[in-house]
Amino acid sequence: MLSKKLNDALNKHMNLEFHSAYSYLAAVAHFETEELPGFANFYSIQAKEELTHAMKFFNFIQDAGGQAKLADVAAPRQSYKSPLDVFEASLKQEQNVSSEINKLLDLAIAEKHAGTRVFLQWFVTEQLEEEALFNRCIRRIKIAGKDGQGLLLIDQELGKRTGDGEAAAE
Ligand code: FEO
Repeated sequence: MLSKKLNDALNKHMNLEFHSAYSYLAAVAHFETEELPGFANFYSIQAKEELTHAMKFFNFIQDAGGQAKLADVAAPRQSYKSPLDVFEASLKQEQNVSSEINKLLDLAIAEKHAGTRVFLQWFVTEQLEEEALFNRCIRRIKIAGKDGQGLLLIDQELGKRTGDGEAAAE
């Protein structure tokens, strides 16, 4: 059984994961408009991953005897100056998610709720991977992305992302 405090904190985090999905979908729209389909593909897969993260929270809360409550999802940022701008905003978002996961973990430990602790462990690892992924993309965009040709090469590379860990950038 979850305490009200832990249930509320898990619901708040579920909402943040839905917000991440919204943000990455906004990036899909941005890159499709910019005629960069590879970047759009990368973010489309990322948005789907965020939905699965949100659903992991939904299912866990229900399974743990709590109640998943769906609140308003904040509108994402929708305009960007450059691909680098998008990726830097995404990295910041992931860093915030990581910090929130850490806070949740602290709460689960304080409440001695072993089930939540074990559940959150997967997210601790996932966040390390997500931050590493965005950092890697940022470095590559900085190297190659200043001229149009470099950007198109990265676009091709990101277009190969399949969502099962096979993309060149993953
Ligand atoms: Fe589910 Fe990228 O945080």
